[in-house]
Amino acid sequence: MNRQIALEWLKENVSSESLLKHCYAVEAAMRAYGRFYDEDVERWGMCGLLHDIDFERYPDEHPLVGVEWLKEKGFDEEFVVAVKAHGDHTHTPRETHLAKALYAVDELASFIIAVALVRPDKLQGMTPKSVKKKLKDKAFARAVDREGIQKGAEAMGVDLTDHISRLIEALQVREEELSEQGVSLL
Ligand SMILES: [Fe+2]
Ligand SMILES: [Fe+2]
Repeated sequence: MNRQIALEWLKENVSSESLLKHCYAVEAAMRAYGRFYDEDVERWGMCGLLHDIDFERYPDEHPLVGVEWLKEKGFDEEFVVAVKAHGDHTHTPRETHLAKALYAVDELASFIIAVALVRPDKLQGMTPKSVKKKLKDKAFARAVDREGIQKGAEAMGVDLTDHISRLIEALQVREEELSEQGVSLL
């Protein structure tokens, strides 16, 4: 499956603009980690793009319905398990870099976007320090699971500041690329 087909498939199942943007942000972050681990960037990006494909239609079963869809489409075991394992409640061990990365970037990508939305310059000039400050501010973006962010970075064995900084950069670059297509992460 190429990105365009994956995106069409995603859009058949997701009508919410904010969920689509979340998928694009997680895709961007996964592409960055694919590069970091010297893996197949397209594949890693697709895992991010598709990880929440069932969320709008099956919020209660998510991500288990999506997992079945991915299997039907022929995605391999590692890919499918990574998607399954991003749902903490599935109690699926995250054993591969792919699974660990997906879990580690999912909430953080959303959080960084939330921080960008309240900054005048949005993603531009954002520092890990400002993101960490917001993480401590419990009233800000309450829905984002801080513990999950911490846990995700630890499981990957990456320093949290480096992790945040890598994601900021990935989102900045992607925002610019997408703007040429009239799409925004924000
Ligand atoms: Fe999810
Ligand atoms: Fe997600």
